[in-house]
This record gives sequence, C-alpha cells and structure tokens, in this order.
Amino acid sequence: MDEHDLPAGMPTRLPHQLDVDLLQASLAGMRLGNPLIYFPTIPSTNSHAAGLAREGAIEGTLVTTDDQTAGRGRVGRPWKALPGQMLALSLVLRPTFPPHYLVMAAALAVAEAIEQVTNLRPGIKWPNDVLVGERKVCGILIEVSDGVAILGIGLNVNGSFAHDPDLAARAITLEQAAGHQVSRESLLRELLRRLESLYGLLQAAGNEEAQNTVRNRWRARLSMLGQRVTVRQDPGALAGVAEDVTAEGALLVRLDDGTRRTISWGDVES
Ligand code: BTN
Repeated sequence: MDEHDLPAGMPTRLPHQLDVDLLQASLAGMRLGNPLIYFPTIPSTNSHAAGLAREGAIEGTLVTTDDQTAGRGRVGRPWKALPGQMLALSLVLRPTFPPHYLVMAAALAVAEAIEQVTNLRPGIKWPNDVLVGERKVCGILIEVSDGVAILGIGLNVNGSFAHDPDLAARAITLEQAAGHQVSRESLLRELLRRLESLYGLLQAAGNEEAQNTVRNRWRARLSMLGQRVTVRQDPGALAGVAEDVTAEGALLVRLDDGTRRTISWGDVES
C-alpha cells in the first residue's frame, strides 16, 4: 500500500510511515543524511544506494525505507525486519581511512544513539552486531568497492518478534527491551549525528588519535571479551576464549591447546 491507496480525506502519511518531512528538517545542515531518499518499500536500501553511488551520488546520500522486500544481511543471509517499525538505511560514504574503523564507528554510533534515546546500555558483538542483553537489535552490512563504502544499518525499533519464536530467541526490538515505543525519527537523527561526528574525525587525514579513540570506545562495548566463544567460519568452527582485539579490530582467540588465533571474519557465539 502506498499513499495513492489511501481514501480521500485521509492524512497522506500512513500511521507506520516514517515522517520524512520531520526527518528532513531535523537533518538540515548535516553532511550525512543529505540528500535523503525515501521509499515506502524497496528491495534493499544497500542495493539502491550502491546503484546511486555508481551514478556519482554525493557522500552522505541516505536511502531509507519502511519496508525491505529483499533486505540483505552479512555472508549472503537475508535480513528480516518488521515493516513500518524498524529502521533500514544505507549511506553512501567515501572513507579515506581503513574500512575496519568504519565497522567500529558504525556500531559505536548505533550503540551510543540507542543509549541516548532509550537509556538502555547496548553492547557490541564482534565485529559490529549491536545487542541488548544477549539479543541482537541491529545488524550492519558494509559493502566496499572502488573507494565507495555502502554502510547499511538495520535496527529493530518497535513491535515484537513474539510471533516468530526462532527470531525471538536471537533478536529483540528496542520497544521490547525498553518497555515503550521509540521514535524512529529521533533515533535516526541521533545515529546520524553521532556517526557524522566519528566519521568526520576519522576522515581528517592521518588522525591517529581519532582512530585510537574510536577503537577504544568500540572495544569498551565489546560484550565477549574474556568469555568462551565459538567462531563459525563456514565450513569450519573453532572454540576458545576471546582475549582481546588487535589494533586493526581482529579478534584474538586463545584456543584450548594454548595457541592464539587472530580472527578477522566469522560469526561469534558465546
Ligand atoms: C547483518 O547480517 O547483521 C547485517 C544486516 C544489515 C541489514 C541492513 S537493513 C539496511 C541495509 N539494506 C540491506 O539490504 N541490508 C542492510
């Protein structure tokens, strides 16, 4: 359904539609989020943003929607979310710093924005899932090609996964965790504001201090350090204790035989 399906005389915005005018006004003057491109429904904001980037879209271009029909997650998985209740967004970025700092900055901006808007205290599951308690509230997909990074963020804001026991075991919405609805517009604005600040620091050429700051704040939120973890790297898996992260953000895992492995990709479970 889109605006054209509404009966005459009804407000032109659906109850569960992002208030794009409000958003646009609140993002005035910001670099990230301008221009703002909104679709009531779209297959994938990341795919659309990548197409725009190929056509020369400016840095900061934001694609967002109320409903993705073919949302994509990491390692080729589908991304399912609640239409009209979540945030799904993709930003066109052209980072001049190593991409692992973007992984950290994105997760950090999401976690800090959630904390600011809800008072929850989210953690980060290496490398960039954002959790409340043990359950995932946000997934991040960064696709880098030819100097362009498409930063895709999927955030479970309102509603509940109670109808889907499989998902409910792993995922949670902010409404479920906080006990009240959360304004998607306020959260998106706060997230972009924080990301813009971190991104600006990192873009300043050779800013080692900014890189250390981002890494330390990201590391402080990692939920699994010191814990026993299983790392799945299809087709294999390994188990050990997540001891620390390297300067590049790789996970250091002490295996049961005493050797230490540096893990740069994979799914980690505690
Ligand atoms: C993950 O697997 O955890 C990453 C999920 C990323 C989902 C977001 S939703 C907005 C953007 N568009 C997509 O198709 N995927 C990302």
